Amino acid sequence: MSRAAVLTGIGAMVPPREVGNDAFAERLATSDEWIRTRTGIRKRHMVDPGTSTSDLAVEAGQRALKSAGRDQVDLVVLATATPDYPLPGTAPDVASRLGLDHVPAFDVAAVCAGFVYALATAAGTIGAGLTDRVLVIGAEAFSTILDPTDRGTAILFGDGAGAVVLERGPADAPGALLGFDLGSDGSMADLIMIPGGGSRQRSGGAPPDADRAWFTMQGREVFGQAATRMAESTRTLLKTIDWPVESVDRFVGHQANVRILHAVSDLIGLPRERAVVHLDQVGNTSAASIPLALAHAAATGQLLPGHRVAMSAFGGGLAWGSAALVWPDVVPG
Ligand code: ACO
Repeated sequence: MSRAAVLTGIGAMVPPREVGNDAFAERLATSDEWIRTRTGIRKRHMVDPGTSTSDLAVEAGQRALKSAGRDQVDLVVLATATPDYPLPGTAPDVASRLGLDHVPAFDVAAVCAGFVYALATAAGTIGAGLTDRVLVIGAEAFSTILDPTDRGTAILFGDGAGAVVLERGPADAPGALLGFDLGSDGSMADLIMIPGGGSRQRSGGAPPDADRAWFTMQGREVFGQAATRMAESTRTLLKTIDWPVESVDRFVGHQANVRILHAVSDLIGLPRERAVVHLDQVGNTSAASIPLALAHAAATGQLLPGHRVAMSAFGGGLAWGSAALVWPDVVPG
């Protein structure tokens, strides 16, 4: 049997507290209309005090394992930009709480591109013979790092988690990951960052001031980079696996802004209707965005077994990545 990585289960969750656009209107001099028309977002979900990324990751992980009909894996890879603590990594705690004691578990830090990086890493361990079954999770409590006074970012993000199970299988099985394209450009790291709290700042000898501990983003510049990079990366991937662009049934792009999804569709020459839109319900959930969108599309019948799916993500780093598969017959857990 060949050593392809095959998606055999998927699960997703968002915390129960829903926050509509109106919640920001007065405090941030914005409006539901501005947010809807400039981003496509109508609402997002946010954690309550005391809930952290691992809590979301455990629930999504449970659902993915249930969907795959499995209770054991060889490895847990967790993509997150909002770990429970600066250290240790969050994945070992998630693995323990899932009853997967002593399996290797680690975090991947590639911000919004994290899930695609985690998928590639997990698939690599299967291909190399290191593992046969991997739980890959993207989870974020992103609301916890947002500056409540910054209307350019506070309105965009939400919390949630999505997970998939990958298993060793034949390369022609539905669900087999057929290829990846990954890239980064650290020369533009300052477009998306938390400036305080890391060694660059802490080598000065003090913990971060409150005003340097928040997430920052130069939205307009990021918009252009996101559209161009996701389009280029998707094109490269499709060429590698020999899929004509028109053969792609569903484009599952990082859910940052519906205008970016439309721009990418236009740039690669795919009808806009083939781009899955989930950000209207959950906002930008960073590393959780792609698995949440996949689970939503599968649960609502937008994604059907046999569909050719191209995914592409972009975010802080800058880092971006794309992956492709034929959608398998899985029921979200
Ligand atoms: N409400 C009302 N007005 C606003 C708001 C708001 N919430 N936010 C910004 N504005 C104003 C600005 O102040 C500006 O006013 P000015 O012209 O008087 O200066 C005006 O709207 C236009 O601002 P822009 O930043 O140019 O607005 P734009 O249309 O680009 O939308 C947005 C901003 C939504 C942030 C957009 O740039 C965007 O989606 N960027 C990409 C985000 C993204 O892709 N992120 C993915 C990576 S994130 C990660 O990795 C974690």
